[in-house]
Amino acid sequence: MANILLIDSDGKLRDRTIHFFTGSGHKIEGVDDFNRALDFIQKQPLDVVISDVHVPGGNILSLLRSIRERDSEIMLIVTSPIEEVSSVIQAIKEGAFDFVRKPFNQGELYVKVEKALEIRHLSLEAQHLRGQQNLIYKTHEVIGESPHFREVLTVIEKVSMSDSSVIVLGETGTGKELIAGLIHYNSLRAGKAFVRVNCAALPDDLLESELFGHEKGAFTGAEKLRIGRFEQADGGTIFLDEIADMSLKTQAKVLRVLQEQTFERLGSSRTKQVNVRVISATNKILEDEISTGNFRQDLFYRLNVIRLDLPPLRERREDILKLTRFFMLRYSTKMNKKIHKIHLLAEEKLLAYNWPGNIRELENIVERAIIMAVEEISPEDIYLPSDRKTASSPPVEFFIPQEGVSLEDIEKKAILQALEKCLWVQKDAARLLKISPRTLNYKISKHNIGYDGWKKNL
Ligand SMILES: Nc1ncnc2c1ncn2[C@@H]1O[C@H](COP(=O)(O)OP(=O)(O)OP(=O)(O)O)[C@@H](O)[C@H]1O
Ligand SMILES: [Mg+2]
Repeated sequence: MANILLIDSDGKLRDRTIHFFTGSGHKIEGVDDFNRALDFIQKQPLDVVISDVHVPGGNILSLLRSIRERDSEIMLIVTSPIEEVSSVIQAIKEGAFDFVRKPFNQGELYVKVEKALEIRHLSLEAQHLRGQQNLIYKTHEVIGESPHFREVLTVIEKVSMSDSSVIVLGETGTGKELIAGLIHYNSLRAGKAFVRVNCAALPDDLLESELFGHEKGAFTGAEKLRIGRFEQADGGTIFLDEIADMSLKTQAKVLRVLQEQTFERLGSSRTKQVNVRVISATNKILEDEISTGNFRQDLFYRLNVIRLDLPPLRERREDILKLTRFFMLRYSTKMNKKIHKIHLLAEEKLLAYNWPGNIRELENIVERAIIMAVEEISPEDIYLPSDRKTASSPPVEFFIPQEGVSLEDIEKKAILQALEKCLWVQKDAARLLKISPRTLNYKISKHNIGYDGWKKNL
């Protein structure tokens, strides 16, 4: 999802364009004059600006300069009728990205916007590699507008520039790793390594040598010298994921790195000095681990200089559909399928669910829905774990006679009842039966169900 600003005095064109881009999963705002545009550019994060060459209340070149001042990587696309081509050429010379001739069709504009986003992305990536990027890196990949989540983002912006330790807490799938990366890539350390260690994935001895390295022959099997993750992260950031799963012995060594920035490789007495920022994460309640003696309190204090509590998805329901749109775009692009729409009932289904697996679970469900969907995501394409149980739907009562009954007859009867109830509108009946209209249509012909009102008697 990209943030787009559209500047055009033609209200109808604005509405049409906004409708089109919103439907494609982008966030787009429209304004009709220069001053409103400037105000917007100052306050809101933006990826692309689409502007008519004639900006009421100002001109395209001063608009371009204001955009450059805000963020030199915002892409400007100029729209203009053919007669105004000289102003357009001037704008392109001064750095506008591209031009679309008016009147345009939305598809044409869409292609240019996607191209602009691609170039912007590459350019930010290149800046990151050179370690020059500022606070905007990758924020377009982090979706969230709920007040609690915005608060978290504000804190991130502040802590990015410091070297303090950060602990990210939250249930599984709430985005702890994503946030850790965001902090690193927006910090002054961005040009150096971001090293991730999953403390739960390795047995204790291996974890120690993973973190601190070992000399050749330090223990049986240590055939070669190994540079540890702390050394690899020198100058950058180490992300200690699942920190609660670290043994007390390893905790003591990590504490020392935090206090003195020193450690020794296993099997060596030479003390090494590193300059590493530590970001840690866990989905356990660390206070409980401390009271049961599984986690060192002094280490907790060191890690917990800045604490970010990521809210579970069920507490930020206003973000569910935004995240859905974001993942729809991600997976439809990846799978090369043009699925930009989602049925209202499918949205309702997503909104009503409790999301124990949080954003990761939503991502997986949207990915599956994109695979299943034809043209748009229907309620049947959204397959939630609760669909497996019928717990939330009322129990279906029916009577099986002594001599038995064929399942086919039960199916036919259910279809007839649903059709009658929906006045023979197949689409509505399909919804009642929780199947797709296509499946219903197939079953109607299979059971030879006919109705005079249908043009074609099936
Ligand atoms: N705010 C967000 N916007 C967009 N995508 C998100 C957001 N938060 C998380 N994601 C995506 O959700 C998935 C899970 O996120 P992540 O791996 O960071 O969660 P986690 O808290 O580390 O989970 P776990 O505790 O299971 O390790 C990732 O694909 C991530 O990109
Ligand atoms: Mg994780």
